Amino acid sequence: MKKLSLFALVALFAFTACNSNTEKSEGTETLTQESPAEVVAKEVSITINAGDDMKFDLAEIKVKEGQTVKITLNHTGKLAKEAMGHNWALLTQGTIVSDFAAKAMQAKDTDYIPAGATEVIVHTKLIGGGQTDTIEFVAPAKGVYEFICTFPGHSALMKGTFYVE
Ligand code: CO
Repeated sequence: MKKLSLFALVALFAFTACNSNTEKSEGTETLTQESPAEVVAKEVSITINAGDDMKFDLAEIKVKEGQTVKITLNHTGKLAKEAMGHNWALLTQGTIVSDFAAKAMQAKDTDYIPAGATEVIVHTKLIGGGQTDTIEFVAPAKGVYEFICTFPGHSALMKGTFYVE
């Protein structure tokens, strides 16, 4: 009888200790998930402006892997797209920007995005002054990517880094 009680006590203690451990670790996890810094929004909206000065107003964009990314490109200038066209094209990793820009330059009929170009992950339309275009896509795998405007001569200035974290 005495032995049994001791056993029961030990078992109860072990159960309690184990249970409290589990609760503690679960509690910590829940706290981490609820902490604002750790919350990953499902969607992120980014606005990029570019005018007749041939510049994007963002040099860096940071998103999270798997996030739905909404990019809005605004052409804040006055010039037509034939003279000062802008688009926003996200390039695959390893693409040599100058090589691709040279190739894109020849694709006037398709607004300087070569048909079936494997170097482009996503891109907006080519737009002129006062126009805007929005695209939505799922962020690619973690890594560092580059974005450019593929209008002839623009990528030298119109470029930036797209980080997927
Ligand atoms: Co441009």
